[in-house]
Amino acid sequence: MRIIFATHNRNKLAEIRKIMEDIAAEIVSKAELGVDFEPVEDGQSFSENSELKAVGIREYLREHGLLRQDDIIMADDSGLCVDYMDGEPGVYSARFMGEDTSYEVKNREIIRRLSGVEGEARAAHFTCDICAAFADGRVFHTEGIFPGFIANEPAGENGFGYDPILYLPAYGKTSAELDMEEKNKISHRGKALREMRRLLQSVRETDWKLEKRKIPNGESSADSNRVRRVLLVSDSHRKDDALLEIITKERPFEMLIHLGDAEGTESQIRKAAGEGVRCYFVEGNNDFFTSLPKELIVRIGKENCFLSHGHRYGVGMDVSFLADEARARGCGVAMFGHTHRPYLKTVNEVVCVNPGSISYPRQSDHKLTYMIVEVDGDGRLSYIQKYAN
Ligand code: IMP
Repeated sequence: MRIIFATHNRNKLAEIRKIMEDIAAEIVSKAELGVDFEPVEDGQSFSENSELKAVGIREYLREHGLLRQDDIIMADDSGLCVDYMDGEPGVYSARFMGEDTSYEVKNREIIRRLSGVEGEARAAHFTCDICAAFADGRVFHTEGIFPGFIANEPAGENGFGYDPILYLPAYGKTSAELDMEEKNKISHRGKALREMRRLLQSVRETDWKLEKRKIPNGESSADSNRVRRVLLVSDSHRKDDALLEIITKERPFEMLIHLGDAEGTESQIRKAAGEGVRCYFVEGNNDFFTSLPKELIVRIGKENCFLSHGHRYGVGMDVSFLADEARARGCGVAMFGHTHRPYLKTVNEVVCVNPGSISYPRQSDHKLTYMIVEVDGDGRLSYIQKYAN
């Protein structure tokens, strides 16, 4: 595993090297790779900005043939949020009063704006969001908060930026009066980095398990960007007439997902979907003698989707086992079939989706069902339940 950190800041790099040293083979900055590309950070939140940076660099590396399969591109975005100023300067921390204004002036201005404000009302915190963008398209975030109060006077020479005005009652000091090691133990960035370390470890353990069980991950990100409509079907059981009609009716779509029990007609379905439509199939409990993957992870819009027929997780009784497995593998969506009943519900924070069956429906109206997944401009997914006729 190689971690590429999207920063020029030596202190940040030193900190991440220290925290991540035993989990990554190599930790380099983008500058050390000779990359000077700077993605535009025009998001409205810390997490949007960190993702813009990490994904922007990842795609740059991909386009220039520099991306390795086991790369993780990491980026952070941070800032000071002052309660009395409605969370400002927030994502504009670096640009507050202009990028070139000194922090001495910025800090004095914040203290001036809080004149007459006392006690709890002076609460403020640093926030840091870290985004890890995997070469295979997965994206993870962690967040750290460093709370304190706006000091009456700036104090301290250590640190940078707004450190001299964040007062920490537990220490009787400002953040700029802590030495670097002390600050890293309690800082927003330190917390977010340590949380990211834990997260990467658990993702890696899950990936190892996947590898052991020979469950391939679906390809993702480059394709996921152009996907706007996905045809989601399941349990066709060789009765493909309805499916062929649906394919004609629902065009255009860029991806077709079949969640199992096609029973051997996959190539016919692929052909009907047409060239340029990416087709994913997983093995159902009636797919004997097949080389189809048992499970897949496919990126659609900004979601990692866990694809499985579902019978191994007992979805007929309880969807939560499937939801938990999806979440453990870094997926916010679980797509499944097997029950022959359409289903759409958030279970244990995972959106669980079943398009129903296009051969033998079992819900009360006994209509053939499927779903269309639509991806909006921000990569969010919506699910439209449809009937075959
Ligand atoms: P960035 O995430 O490195 O771009 O930081 C944005 C801005 O937030 C910095 O320029 C500082 O103004 C402020 N900031 C973020 N973290 C800290 C910190 O630990 N101490 C002081 N200022 C910070």
